[in-house]
Amino acid sequence: MCGIVGAVGIQNPREYAVEGLKMLEYRGYDSAGVGFLDGRIKLYKDVGSPSHLYDILPAKINSNVIIGHTRWATHGKPSKENSHPHISMYKKIALVHNGVIENFVELREFLTTRGYCFYSQTDTEVIANLLEYFYLESKDMLKAMVLLKEKLEGSYALAIVNEDYPDRLFMLKKASPLLVGKGKGFNLIASDASPMVNYTNEFVELDDFDYGYISKEEIVVFNKENKKVDKKTIIKSTESFSHDLKGYPHYMLKEIEEIDEVVKRLVSTYYQDDKYLFDKELIKDLKESDHIIFLGCGTSYHASLVGGRLFENFNNISTTKYIASEWAFHPTFPGEKPFVVLISQSGETADLIHCLKIIQEKDVHTLLITNTAGSTLSRGVTYTLLLHAGVEVSVASTKAYAAQVALLALLSGAIDDNKKVVDDLKDTIKVIEYIKNNFKERIQKIADVIKEHQNVFYLGRSFDYFLSLEASLKLKEISYIHSEAIPGGELKHGPIALISQGLPVIVFITDPLTASSMRGNIEEVKSRGANVFVISTKELSKESDSLVVDNYAYYLSGVAISSVAFYLAYYVSLKKGYNVDKPRNLAKSVTVE
Ligand code: F6R
Repeated sequence: MCGIVGAVGIQNPREYAVEGLKMLEYRGYDSAGVGFLDGRIKLYKDVGSPSHLYDILPAKINSNVIIGHTRWATHGKPSKENSHPHISMYKKIALVHNGVIENFVELREFLTTRGYCFYSQTDTEVIANLLEYFYLESKDMLKAMVLLKEKLEGSYALAIVNEDYPDRLFMLKKASPLLVGKGKGFNLIASDASPMVNYTNEFVELDDFDYGYISKEEIVVFNKENKKVDKKTIIKSTESFSHDLKGYPHYMLKEIEEIDEVVKRLVSTYYQDDKYLFDKELIKDLKESDHIIFLGCGTSYHASLVGGRLFENFNNISTTKYIASEWAFHPTFPGEKPFVVLISQSGETADLIHCLKIIQEKDVHTLLITNTAGSTLSRGVTYTLLLHAGVEVSVASTKAYAAQVALLALLSGAIDDNKKVVDDLKDTIKVIEYIKNNFKERIQKIADVIKEHQNVFYLGRSFDYFLSLEASLKLKEISYIHSEAIPGGELKHGPIALISQGLPVIVFITDPLTASSMRGNIEEVKSRGANVFVISTKELSKESDSLVVDNYAYYLSGVAISSVAFYLAYYVSLKKGYNVDKPRNLAKSVTVE
């Protein structure tokens, strides 16, 4: 996790650093800091989000070089000492780091025996000191960086200043993202393009083990073999990085309200003139495979459950669906010709990168479903399909989930040229719009009840169960209420013991096949005192149901009515006074395992 920025030669380094870090807050926001050269290295850092830096930084920064960091704590609690930048013991070098150094304990011992002292609990301070140690020996920063990368195990994107080089910002990366922005009379770096898009649309992507420096005029990069390389510049559209709230009080609300547009855009991107527009090779590959392994984490894993079920039910392809971090340590490749679908909104999730490395050792083709073009994962897979959901800023994923489910449905439709999927998806758009225009007040009333409780249950079967899992995750991550999703049929096998007087139970009933069993489950929990809220479709509804929507194809719950679950989590969190967009302990891009 963590976000980093850096600049050389920019006019207002203070603003670039702080505003840039604000754009990267989705990567972590428990502490933040900035470092620059003003004769000597100066550091300003503290716990809290990057905006707080405006309170502690001098009003004007006279420095050619600046680095900044927003942190999601891994080694050491969020504290001023553990915040980045970290400075080396002899104060020659300061750096910011995104990643995790696996052998930092051995490296710290190595340095301790050579007289180094440490003032934080972080792995990053070890990097600063080790680099200084090599620099003081070699008197050459590039040589020192080569020695450093030979010693470091783990992941790192580093932005480094050295007191002896007032015009250069050094950089080094492995397995964590780092992008260089090319300016006129200045150059920039950052974890992604968002902090830089107001300054340039030309970027240089660094590969693993690349290192070098930027100055006002130059971008100098050496590769894994320590050869100087001419990196090609890529042009990125700057629009897609906009963090404009467009009048909404929170990103989460804005993003929920964009779901209908996102679904429309997906359909028109992947289906035109009565034809699916997916890469023919991809469809052929999927058809020829005899087993599809779906991998994802959190919300993306929940989408993979839907995808797997669709491929099984509609395309008759056997599938397994795994939480990526579970699969990574015991990978299996069933069938003669397996194919792997990785789902990741950010395209940067470390657990999936771990899986991809394992897959790359086999002769197995891969598809990434992501919202982030050019992400780390997309560079290692056979095919990439974009969600075109627009940037998702709120840590809790909403529109990206609906888009993942919609795209998986389209893909399943494309495999057997089943055009009904497209009509079914178009129907969901009306349902989503209806919810947006009619249900928010009623959902707020349900939120008033939920917010008073410590425990909540969600019930559903099949596709409604997959949605329950997602609904439950959303509620717990932003309202800190314990919630569980249970398949209706499993209640009697244990969880029903937890039903008590007044416990809120939210039930989705949208599948004609399972509706009557679900009604039975409702009676079971009601008779034990539960306070039940039912969300159903017209054809399956009862008068007492809380929210009733138009009928839609049962397998599209994740698209049609996920907004109900998202609004509910949103309002509960809001009513409890929490930071909806930035829940505690979380980050949007989970780049550590
Ligand atoms: C929950 C949420 C997370 C992510 C998970 C995977 O709202 O957003 O559970 O889904 O961290 O992230 P991606 O999809 O970026 O791989």
